[in-house]
Amino acid sequence: MENLTANSPRIFLIGYMGSGKSSALKQLGKLLSWETYDLDRLFEERYKISVQDFFHKYDETAFRKLESQLLKETVNYENAIIATGGGTPCFYDNMEWMNANGTTIFIKVSPKTAINRLINSKKKRPLIEGKSEQELLEYVEQHYGERMPFYEKAHIIVKGENLDAKEILSLMTLSYNA
Ligand code: S3P
Repeated sequence: MENLTANSPRIFLIGYMGSGKSSALKQLGKLLSWETYDLDRLFEERYKISVQDFFHKYDETAFRKLESQLLKETVNYENAIIATGGGTPCFYDNMEWMNANGTTIFIKVSPKTAINRLINSKKKRPLIEGKSEQELLEYVEQHYGERMPFYEKAHIIVKGENLDAKEILSLMTLSYNA
């Protein structure tokens, strides 16, 4: 975990697909009465295409470039919580940028939890589209491991299995006062 250096006007939620970033976003938004944003949704609104269709029509490289640009536009939001995509911290200097421009919170779940949630999720995710349960198991175990070093650069790491937004806030307060 990185040290928090200053109180910050925005919070970035990071974590693997299926870690519960959207639900944490809602909970924290209510608790703090801050604006909430979802980076995938910002992408879809800006480019008028779903992330899934964008991957099909173009490719991941093009997505990552636009995703990074959009992320950096969030510097204009204050008192805001931004849920990022599972891959956001792992491309360009996005993770360093988020650490420098806000408080980063890694919602950490086990690969098993992520897989269970992904199986039951309605959200379309191009990286795991069409995978059988067995393929998903192998993919997530490997892919999550590769991404972990990026996620672990977060200021705060919270267990996402039984997420409690109040607990996140108390962790933040502790870090600020450390
Ligand atoms: C991705 C995660 C997705 C979305 C895109 C790529 C990833 O967001 O940004 O499909 O690389 O892990 P969620 O983490 O909200 O599913």
